[in-house]
Amino acid sequence: MEHKVRDLALAPRGRHQIYWAERNMPVLMKIRSRFEREKPLAGLTIAASLHVTKETAVLARTLAAGGAKVVLIPSNPLSTQDEVAAALAEEGIGVYAWRGMNEREYYNAIGFAISHSPDLTMDDGADLTTSLHKLAHGLADRTLDYVAETAEGADLAKIAGRIRGGTEETTTGVIRLRALHREGKLLYPIIAVNESYTKYLFDNRYGTGQSTWDGIMRATNALIAGKVVVVAGYGWVGRGIAARAKGLGARRVIVTEISPIRALEALFDGFEVMPMSQAAEIGDVFITATGDIRVIDLDDILKMKDGAILANAGHFNVEVDVEGLERIARSKRTIRPYLDEYELPTGRKVYLVGEGRLANLVAAEGHPSEVMDMSFANQALAVEYLAKNRLEIGVYKLPDELDVEVARLKLEAMGVEIDKLTEEQRKYISSWELGT
Ligand code: ADE
Repeated sequence: MEHKVRDLALAPRGRHQIYWAERNMPVLMKIRSRFEREKPLAGLTIAASLHVTKETAVLARTLAAGGAKVVLIPSNPLSTQDEVAAALAEEGIGVYAWRGMNEREYYNAIGFAISHSPDLTMDDGADLTTSLHKLAHGLADRTLDYVAETAEGADLAKIAGRIRGGTEETTTGVIRLRALHREGKLLYPIIAVNESYTKYLFDNRYGTGQSTWDGIMRATNALIAGKVVVVAGYGWVGRGIAARAKGLGARRVIVTEISPIRALEALFDGFEVMPMSQAAEIGDVFITATGDIRVIDLDDILKMKDGAILANAGHFNVEVDVEGLERIARSKRTIRPYLDEYELPTGRKVYLVGEGRLANLVAAEGHPSEVMDMSFANQALAVEYLAKNRLEIGVYKLPDELDVEVARLKLEAMGVEIDKLTEEQRKYISSWELGT
């Protein structure tokens, strides 16, 4: 299929990377074997907007094995692994992705995906799905002009109406799509993969928990032991990052929160809790994981110590006020790959990882394959479910039995056995009469 990637000569390196991911994604590989036999996606075109990584390649190959025509575009301008994109393009996947796309190229990629008239969409952050909906609802903005540049041939007003369903990978995307549905504007059913237990309990917590630190350490090579770490947000992502900060030897781990319940959880998990305005003066490393905007604002940045490191783990680059930082900085220079130094008006210097975008995917390789194995098993089962069932418009969780099946397959692959209920136990926990 047509494609646009950085350099096809990178393909051999990409194939090795994908091979390494496949070795560590046994659940998805098992689903692939079944897809090869059953071809549940035959005749369907899937447009996937995902981080173009070696793990995503394993998913793309699995969808293709199921009979789908796969078009793959990025879900972030800076997360594409060019060697992986090259390998997939060579295999006939319609990849339109390279690392370091500008805004226009990023939305051109969405137009490219739309031009293939997909039957199903797959999204991470909801840029593809929301662009399709904006077009269908006749909205106009700069990004849609860029989409239209490459969506030639597609009937842009009708296209969302003929899509039979879509999936969404991440918390931020699910929030956007639920908002779209609340306004009565959602045009096709969505399976919120993020809401599977075998996704968020593992990917968000252990995946981001490890890979965000991987990104920060590759960008800075800083020693975490002895540092004061500030984690903004104590959702599943923040929890993972805070737990790993402790494991890496941080001297203090401070959590900032807006939810009284999550703040209490953080306290009882053994972390300090205080407002960002106070934490800003104390921290050495700041990591945002809230999904919201300007969680670290200019007032906070101006209070920070000389040498403070700032990184973001949330989907969009809005959590640290990078625009404000750019505006007030006396000077800026790139010190190392994915590490920018800003000199503040106070003369102090702060260091921003990966332009304030997802540190794990920009400065490292994203979540390890073992974790994406479960997330993408959910994605594969979700598109199969959408292919086999006609759902009403709405935002759904994947059926529980499929979620449990992913966990069962993962345990099996790890060689771990668990107990089974006896008949007596099954009766006991399903009766209301039996007590003391
Ligand atoms: N999101 C986080 N880590 C990822 C990875 N390795 N591949 C695709 N999407 C991701």
